[in-house]
Amino acid sequence: MDPISINLDLPIDSYSINISHGWQHLESAIKSYVGNKVMLVTDENVKELFVHDITSIISSMGCEVSLAVVPPGEASKSLKIAEALYTQALNAMLDRSSSIVALGGGVVGDLAGFVASTYMRGINFLQIPTTLLAQVDSSVGGKVAVNHPLAKNIIGSFYQPKSVYININTLDSLPQRQFSTGMAELIKYGFIWDKDFLGWLENNIDRLIKKEKNALAYAIDRCCRIKAEIVGQDEKEKGLRAILNFGHTIGHGLESISSYCLYTHGEAVALGMVYESLIALQKGLVDQSLVDLLINLLKAANLPTKITEIDVESLIQAMAHDKKNKSGSIVFILPIEYGKVDIFNDVEEELIYNVFQ
Ligand code: GLY
Repeated sequence: MDPISINLDLPIDSYSINISHGWQHLESAIKSYVGNKVMLVTDENVKELFVHDITSIISSMGCEVSLAVVPPGEASKSLKIAEALYTQALNAMLDRSSSIVALGGGVVGDLAGFVASTYMRGINFLQIPTTLLAQVDSSVGGKVAVNHPLAKNIIGSFYQPKSVYININTLDSLPQRQFSTGMAELIKYGFIWDKDFLGWLENNIDRLIKKEKNALAYAIDRCCRIKAEIVGQDEKEKGLRAILNFGHTIGHGLESISSYCLYTHGEAVALGMVYESLIALQKGLVDQSLVDLLINLLKAANLPTKITEIDVESLIQAMAHDKKNKSGSIVFILPIEYGKVDIFNDVEEELIYNVFQ
């Protein structure tokens, strides 16, 4: 496959998202940005799989590589781990002409990007996402952050990478549950933006689940183009970009009340999309067929679609901390037709209780 290159056009710092099967085009995608020294940030799982290849490619470009390995999992998105990375960057003498490369999933990308955005007031940052979730969502668009004990992703900024390199073959080794979690974000794009993609998903979901390469390439390309279009119009989430959070108001609430232990992010978003669609159904914005299509696609992707027991009071309290909220109202992204959502801040609490009954 020839590499695909998608432009994310921004007023400053536009960049390309490169999609390929293999590492053969990595050098050309990153060579203008790596500089003299690279800190390669990854986690213990990804290290075993891809660090050898990436280190050889970057070293062959004449760069000194310092490897920083963090424990896998959300707990690594902390100021404590960020401080350890600043220490390593200083010890390796990274300067303003150096770069930080994130190799891994969303946790590694968000953490490494946060460190890149703050070390010496910002050095070059490159993304090599190796999970489906990071490839279709978190590596694109420049959201970088660490967590605070009281709230997820609350300490961060918008800091765009100089380039994103997606090697679809990395998904071969991705555990099934992690693959499904990425499928939730992938399905989301059909509902928020693209009725045609939704139709394609209906006919091709089985090919995606089997990790058929052409189907994956098509879907990842489609999702990255949609994200590039949305972020290109609203980089700092003044309005439109919030639609990328369909399923996330309830999803983040569920993650929070279960202490980030019960559901993966994609599983929580899948449930969030279902229950937010049920709110849309109750408001008369959509009909049952849209909810059924969503549930069928999520089920096909081995994602949960129903919650049996929930403390709605705690969920509402958790949703009250959502970053999207304005002037005390909880903001929801709700479907209004196939491939289209809108932003609502007037959802009555009663409707939230009703959908969980
Ligand atoms: N993941 C949502 C966004 O990038 O805005």
